[in-house]
Amino acid sequence: MCGIVSYVGSMEAGPFLVETLENLAYRGYDSAGIAVVNSSGELVIEKAPGKLEELEKLLANNMPTGTMGVGHTRWATHGVPTYINAHPHMDCSGNIVVIQNGIIENYLPLKEKLIAEGHQFVSQTDTEVLAHLVEKHYQGDLKEAVKKALVEVQGSFALVFMHKDERYLVAARMNAPLIIGLGYGENYIASDIPALLSKTNKFYILNNGDIVKVAEDIIEVDTFVDGPPISASNRHISIVDWTVEETSKKGYQYYMLKEITEQPRVVHNTTKGRLSPKGDVKLDLAVTDEHLRRAKRIHLVACGTAYHACIYGKYILEEMLGLPVAADIASEFRYRKPVVHPRDLVVLVSQSGETADTLASLDTARELGATSLAITNVQGSSIARHSDSVLYTYAGPEIAVASTKAFIAQLTVLLLLGLYLSDIRGVSSKIDRKQLIKGLNRLPSDIDSLLARQEEFKGLADQILDDEHCYFLGRNLDEPIAREGALKLKEISYIHAEAYAAGELKHGTIALVEDGTPVVAIMTQESVIEKTLSNVQEVRARQARVFGLVCEGTQGIEEHCTSTIYLPRSHRMVMPIMATVPLQLLAYYAALGRGCDVDQPRNLAKSVTVE
Ligand code: AGP
Repeated sequence: MCGIVSYVGSMEAGPFLVETLENLAYRGYDSAGIAVVNSSGELVIEKAPGKLEELEKLLANNMPTGTMGVGHTRWATHGVPTYINAHPHMDCSGNIVVIQNGIIENYLPLKEKLIAEGHQFVSQTDTEVLAHLVEKHYQGDLKEAVKKALVEVQGSFALVFMHKDERYLVAARMNAPLIIGLGYGENYIASDIPALLSKTNKFYILNNGDIVKVAEDIIEVDTFVDGPPISASNRHISIVDWTVEETSKKGYQYYMLKEITEQPRVVHNTTKGRLSPKGDVKLDLAVTDEHLRRAKRIHLVACGTAYHACIYGKYILEEMLGLPVAADIASEFRYRKPVVHPRDLVVLVSQSGETADTLASLDTARELGATSLAITNVQGSSIARHSDSVLYTYAGPEIAVASTKAFIAQLTVLLLLGLYLSDIRGVSSKIDRKQLIKGLNRLPSDIDSLLARQEEFKGLADQILDDEHCYFLGRNLDEPIAREGALKLKEISYIHAEAYAAGELKHGTIALVEDGTPVVAIMTQESVIEKTLSNVQEVRARQARVFGLVCEGTQGIEEHCTSTIYLPRSHRMVMPIMATVPLQLLAYYAALGRGCDVDQPRNLAKSVTVE
């Protein structure tokens, strides 16, 4: 997704904008640009297609001077990545610039109307329409012109406008994240919190419909949608406890490896204060226990990796609670007319808390009268703020596009949720609770022991580096982990990888298995291991190479596998969390070996804030 940064204060804007765009680069982009009002009051725009290095080369000897400016990294939606399509975009007068994240759904009719009124366009983007629309409404007050323009706009947007003759910025948001960083004698605007942590830990997190006038010493929060005016006083200032250090690479080549190695601490931080040494679980939920006791059904909804956590959640919550639990892909849930009863609990899982489809599913759940619970990693994110209750994962900022530590934290929170709900619903005896608690308490050190074996997992990656396809098999609780392993591998190494419920393979996909095809078989669930082993033998009969993941002490596997990975033995509901770590490292080292950009894989964004 696009990255937005803006500054107004007494410092040179240019260098700050470029440095902050580097902090936003992980969001994924294909061009970048800045605009600064220089000391002569002129608007200077510099932009370049490609990586930030291209823009930095351009600015090396001609960084515009000036203390108010906007910067943008563009993830192309309308129009190919070129100089012309890069942001910031300007109006005809050359006095107004705009940067935007999102999609203006009605940009074509607006553009046609503006052209008919004499406006000259230069780019193929939807964003440029905004610059001309504000120009049309501008009568000496930028904020008022933006308010009028946005009434005509449909779609999702986080945007910042600047006028060369007015000493303030105008920010607005609708279904795309945008935050205001509060400084001293200066203020900042950005797409997300990590980008500004070097400057401040105080933020206004904008709501849909907010329009904000940001000067160096005032912030005026208003609304551009119908409704009573809003004052900054009733906007909660979020104080974020993340540190700059947490958002740095700390010497790792890639954020992804740093975040994989943080997982023991993440599990500890996510259970801390929630799981007592003797196994009591306490969750501070904003919904009452009575309400949770009445729930007759649970819906888990998410996208991508978070959806895989939902499938895991379905298995464990159904077993722990004896309730029907559905796991839904958010982009399907929101359009499927789901059957949701007002007494149901809808759990939305999202690392960023800003994923458009998951956010829309939250709206669907609320419209249907259900209780909503967010499991998210970003304090104050949209999903956190608009859900009835939130359970944070304490994974710290996750910068790499490929989600790793947040996934482990999501699985951990779902286990805690299952334990908590089984306690308040009086069904704790359904599972071997003590063993599960013991496994959870031991999980950080078990993950540590896996991290010490990276060379072993790198060796596995070396065996598939030149393969075009790879299949992941799992049954029961291992099935969502197979999905996660496949997603990790394909999204960063670009090896085509697919996951299958092991029993499903012979219903078609085994036709693709041929001599040397790599198959990763996850077999941590003792109750179904024999069944999966049969599937392993079926693919071995077609000369596949099989990499088996099993609990240490499991017999009779090695003769069926090309390589066997033994995992520390733990509770069956904890084993899938354990099995995830080698698969993350397999993907990491495969991507590394193939020379891929591990943190910013092509075409992907960290937070998909558009449909
Ligand atoms: C996973 O590695 C991907 N980055 C992607 O599938 C991600 O999990 C998905 O976009 C959901 O993001 P969220 O958790 O922030 O909602």
